Formats: sequence, structure tokens, C-alpha cells
Amino acid sequence: MKHKVAVIGAGNVGASVALYVAERGLADVTLIDIVEGMPQGKALDMVQAAPLWHRGARLEGANNLAAVKGADVVVMTAGFPRKPGMSRTDLLKANADIVRPAAEAVKQHAPAAYVVVVTNPLDVMAHLFWKTTGFPKHRVMGMAGILDSTRFRAFIAMELGISGSDVQAMVLGGHGDSMVPLPRYTTVAGVPITELIPANRIAEIAQRTRDGGAEIVKLLKTGSAYYAPAMSSVEMVEAILSDQKRLFPCSVLLQGEYGMKDLFVGVPVILGAKGVEKIIELKLSPEELKALQTSGRQVADSIAELGVGV
Ligand code: NAI
Ligand code: 2OP
Repeated sequence: MKHKVAVIGAGNVGASVALYVAERGLADVTLIDIVEGMPQGKALDMVQAAPLWHRGARLEGANNLAAVKGADVVVMTAGFPRKPGMSRTDLLKANADIVRPAAEAVKQHAPAAYVVVVTNPLDVMAHLFWKTTGFPKHRVMGMAGILDSTRFRAFIAMELGISGSDVQAMVLGGHGDSMVPLPRYTTVAGVPITELIPANRIAEIAQRTRDGGAEIVKLLKTGSAYYAPAMSSVEMVEAILSDQKRLFPCSVLLQGEYGMKDLFVGVPVILGAKGVEKIIELKLSPEELKALQTSGRQVADSIAELGVGV
């Protein structure tokens, strides 16, 4: 049976998610946006590209949130991106007003869907989506850890002049300045990077990873990154639709894991047909755990600011 993916928000990230889902032949796609004609136009453009991918992709656009009906997976990308000089937290209230009605619509029209939240500030919006739908925690997750890890992978590949596909990396924590790249769990085809790159360079690469989103905002000037974010989101969609049991860092509801409770924070999970099938608890060093919990506290502060408890 053909799957359906509904993408809320047909801007830079949403349209790219639709393109990658369709191009990989993962599902039929419904693109939803408030701008009249725009999601329909982008969907039609992709339908016209489909013969060149040798796939019979079916895509449609809509201006009504009820079009999420029947979706197996909903990808939530509607919202404002960061502008230069703006922190992710600045987006908090504006994007909460977009996420709440979207979550209500998903609850009503796609009550069995799995949800991948992309809208920033990521961990707080994932929490808000989960809270508004009342869905079980394994069905709502935020995308950020894969993006932050793939940035770390790309920078390590650039440093060593090797293929990024051989680099495996793990970045945990909230999607913000306090994210926690873990060099100890980062390897090149199994070789720890601590054996390949001096410690001071690893620290600089980790910092560039933390600043990875801001670096692109500064260059683009009128928006934020979207190719790598969309590709990262589609990794999660594929893991769910194809029951891949992939191990990814994702923002999920913690209920005691890593010493944190009632918070969405990026940690390693197994993603499969049942969404978040397992949270992996790594044995972190005291410093790593402290950094992760500090990051978690920042997410908790934003949740308190928004007034969405558990
Ligand atoms: P964009 O501005 O290109 O697209 C956003 C779209 O949302 C626009 O087309 C807008 O019309 C639409 N929209 C606004 N209100 C809506 C509503 N109520 N219903 C349906 N559509 C609505 O922005 P972009 O670059 O696609 O980014 C989207 C969001 O994703 C931002 O919040 C951004 O910060 C976040 N983001 C998160 C990342 C992560 O790692 N979690 C990475 C990249 C972006
Ligand atoms: C990023 O990291 C803006 O959160 C987005 O690129």
C-alpha cells in the first residue's frame, strides 16, 4: 500500500522535504501552506519532474490543514525561519501560534500519524506539538540531531579530505548554542577521530558545528538552511515508513533518561515503524552529562516561558 506524507509549510524546508520524499519514491506527498496557489504550484512542478526520476510520484498542494487526512507521517515545517541576529528563542511565540492550530488539525484529521517536527525553536515546538495532540510520546519527535551530526560529519570530512559518508558522528542536546557534539562517539570508519585530529582542532570543528545554522543564515541573509535540514528530516521519514530501525539522535520526550524529565531533548533513539522504539542511554562522562543537562535546562526555560507544561 502506498504511504502518504503530509508536509505542513511549503517553504524552503517543506518543499525540499516533498522533493526528496517523492524522488526517493517513499510516499505520495501533500504539501500544505497558507499562501494560495504556492503549494499547488510547487507540487505540480515536482509532478512534472517525476518522469525524469523514472517514478510515478503523486504530489498535490493544498491550503487547508484538513488535507493532512490519511497521512502516515506529517512533517511540520511551517513557521518563520531565523533572520540574521535573531536567536532560535526569538522565534518562540510567533511559531507557537502556527504550531498549535497545525497540531489540532493533525489530531483531528490524522489521529494515527507519526509526526516529525522541524519548526524552530525545535525542542520546544516538538513538545508543544506533542502536548497539543496528546499523541503517545513515540509518535512525536523533533528533527535536529541528524542535521547537527551531519554538519559535524561534513566538517570532519573537509578537515581530513575524505568522504563524509565514512564519518559517523553523534551530536546530542537541544538544537541551540548549547548542543553537545560528542567526539568520543565520532569515528571515521570505526577509527576514533581523537586518533586522527588534534584536540584543539576537534574543539574548533565542534564549535563550527554549534554555529552551523548561524553560519548559513549569515551567508543567505534572507533565510536559513534548508537542503541539509530537509534531507535530515527525510532520513527520519524513511526510517519510519520502511521500518529501518536506524539509530539517530532525535528530540524526544525524556521521562527520567539522562536524569531529565518531561522534556524534549536530542538523544540517540531507534527509529522504526513504531516511531521512537527505544531511547539509547549512553554512558556519558560527567562533563558530557553536565553539558547535556545544561542544554536540557535551556529547553525547560523556553517551555516555561511558553507555559506548556506536561
Ligand atoms: P520558509 O519561510 O521558507 O517557509 C515557511 C513556510 O511556512 C512559508 O511558506 C509560510 O507561508 C508557511 N506558513 C506560515 N504559517 C503557516 C500556517 N499557519 N500553515 C501553513 N503554512 C504556514 O522557512 P523554512 O526555511 O522552510 O523554515 C521553516 C521552519 O523550519 C523555521 O521555523 C525554521 O527555523 C525551521 N528549521 C528548523 C531546522 C531544524 O534543524 N529543526 C532546520 C531548518 C529550519
Ligand atoms: C539550522 O540549524 C535554522 O535551525 C536551523 O540551520
